[in-house]
Amino acid sequence: MKKLLLVAAMMLMGVACFAQTTNLPKPNMQRQTLSVMAAYQQRKSVREYSAKALSDQDLSDLLWAAQGQNREDGHLTAPTAMNRQEIRLYVFTAKNVSLYDPKANTLTQVADGDHRDIVASGQAFAKDAPVVLVMVADLDKFGSNNQQAQAMAAVDTGIVCENINFFCSAAGLCTVPRATMDSKAISSLLGLNQNQIPLINNPVGYPK
Ligand SMILES: Cc1cc2nc3c(=O)[nH]c(=O)nc-3n(C[C@H](O)[C@H](O)[C@H](O)COP(=O)(O)O)c2cc1C
Repeated sequence: MKKLLLVAAMMLMGVACFAQTTNLPKPNMQRQTLSVMAAYQQRKSVREYSAKALSDQDLSDLLWAAQGQNREDGHLTAPTAMNRQEIRLYVFTAKNVSLYDPKANTLTQVADGDHRDIVASGQAFAKDAPVVLVMVADLDKFGSNNQQAQAMAAVDTGIVCENINFFCSAAGLCTVPRATMDSKAISSLLGLNQNQIPLINNPVGYPK
């Protein structure tokens, strides 16, 4: 009887863990977008968004553009110093917070509920975006938190952020890069250590 209960409990735990990771649709490489030049021409910060949720396909394409895996050897759309791939990309929505896995093309839930307010912080408009992407630099991937590691992480984060800005421009989505956020509350929610630093965020939505 005890054994049976143990097996049932393990199965339930398995289901619970499984339920927290969702597969994203395959990124659409045939997506119709603006040309590179037109996307640069249109790129601008936008601070109001439609409340409409992002479609799964748009979210998948956005995350892939930001730092998806674009080569079989595991390299990403965003270059990183020494290919340390130290930027974590968190997705805050009305439902939950999840972490993007570029290799598996999945989202794994790390917190339940709507926590966009701690990213919006003093700027209420950011809470209206259906998706808020938060970039966290994991300095542990450099094996050091010295000045050089901090500089590389900041540069790498800027590249991921600009991929987001540029994709949004090309795909007709709205965004703005933001340093404003309640980093302490975010660190606490995500269980980050002192070397895992929220550096920038991008609210993303359709035009209002
Ligand atoms: C590193 C960085 C941090 C920024 N932080 C904020 C911010 O916290 N809030 C905000 O509304 N805009 C923020 N911005 C957006 C800038 O205000 C905006 O890019 C600038 O005014 C130029 O406008 P444009 O993006 O439309 O060209 C930030 C931009 C960068 C590059």
